Amino acid sequence: MSLLELDDIKVHFPVKKGLFFDRTVGHVYAVDGVSLSIEAGQTYGLVGESGCGKTTLGRAVLRLNDITDGGVVFDGTDLAKLPGEEMRAFRRRLQMVFQDPLGSLNPRQNIESILSEGMAAHGIGKDQAERREKIKDILAKVGLPSNALSRYPHEFSGGQRQRIGIARALVLEPDVIICDEPVSALDVSVQAQVINLLEELQESLGLTYLVIAHDLAVVRHISDVIGVMYLGGLVEEAPSDALYAGPRHPYTKALMSAVPVPDPEVEDRRERILLHGDLPSPANPPAGCRFHTRCPWVQETKCATERPPLLDTGDGHKVACHFTAEIEAGTVKQTLATGIEAVVGTETVAAEAVEVSEGETETGAPAADAPQKEPVTVPAQADAGAKEKTAAAEETEEKASDATDVKNETADVKKGTADATEKAEGSPKA
Ligand SMILES: Nc1ncnc2c1ncn2[C@@H]1O[C@H](COP(=O)(O)OP(=O)(O)OP(=O)(O)O)[C@@H](O)[C@H]1O
Ligand SMILES: [Mg+2]
Repeated sequence: MSLLELDDIKVHFPVKKGLFFDRTVGHVYAVDGVSLSIEAGQTYGLVGESGCGKTTLGRAVLRLNDITDGGVVFDGTDLAKLPGEEMRAFRRRLQMVFQDPLGSLNPRQNIESILSEGMAAHGIGKDQAERREKIKDILAKVGLPSNALSRYPHEFSGGQRQRIGIARALVLEPDVIICDEPVSALDVSVQAQVINLLEELQESLGLTYLVIAHDLAVVRHISDVIGVMYLGGLVEEAPSDALYAGPRHPYTKALMSAVPVPDPEVEDRRERILLHGDLPSPANPPAGCRFHTRCPWVQETKCATERPPLLDTGDGHKVACHFTAEIEAGTVKQTLATGIEAVVGTETVAAEAVEVSEGETETGAPAADAPQKEPVTVPAQADAGAKEKTAAAEETEEKASDATDVKNETADVKKGTADATEKAEGSPKA
């Protein structure tokens, strides 16, 4: 049995309206039926473009978001239905490294205080002196000097802050760490260091990871299995090598085709699939296959009416597409839906290869489907008594203003700070 199993997880945020009486006028279907399992000691890489629900899924596993439906079975216990008190004990064993390294650290607490807070809450270490020793040990493991203890988050570079986030998870001796975009706020040279660190820690401590990223290159080497998410659901899942060797879902093909190849000759001949338009709104997801409005191979009727289940197509390679076999065999033509064009090298594919099936695609009006960070009033989901002390600082909006004495990676600090203050909302960078 796997260490962590998600069974048809759904997280729907109610959209409320009204000045005095909140009426629910709809839902944001942020996560809409995700099943996956992670073996002990392995790494599951979850990729997908901004807004597809990756963070929401990660938070749901820890019950930092209410789960609308489905099960989260960890080590044989379904956490989704566990009362708050019992959940506390499990929360130590499942930790999260948050997407925003600066925003998730309380600027008014020094590192010792940030790291020992969770330890004290979970009864780790009999007194502060014992906790301090353990923290020093963990700081060394993540490559931070022991004098970091008395310093404040703003005194560190982006890469170092991410190490603090990792240390905060590690001091609680977890079994599973959910790393939400662990390196997307860092520059490339530091990205590799943090990924290597995660791998070393996994080996020495036997950790199990769920690594979330929007960049396929980031999860490639660290992951045993990769799941590709689109608009609240998984569209493909396969062992890492198999996914890179032969992506089968049109969305994954498009993501892969965007990754440049170092060999200039191959790069010139490479076929690129450009997806046009934004991710449709998770508040109003397309019927049928969620991807059909942007799929280069969309077929009449079925794609727009039936949602394809994630099915094993052999060797544990799972795909959610009605026409996987036909696309593989080349027996269905690319039907270029509105706003989608295939490009070979830099030239647009000739029009005769184009066959648009009328009526089954929405005229992709990106304005209507614009990225879904629109203001909606929601109940205090995250606070539903479930928030952990160690996570309590995550949402803080206060920023330390007196940046002083930045020691290392000075250039990186600037970038990290800027990146951390605005949530990564860019276009897919796979
Ligand atoms: N508390 C909330 N209330 C309402 N909608 C929410 C809430 N949290 C997230 N959403 C919406 O759910 C969708 C998924 O958001 P989420 O942050 O999980 O995406 P993501 O894949 O992590 O994106 P990114 O790569 O930008 O971090 C988005 O449309 C977002 O606006
Ligand atoms: Mg996110």
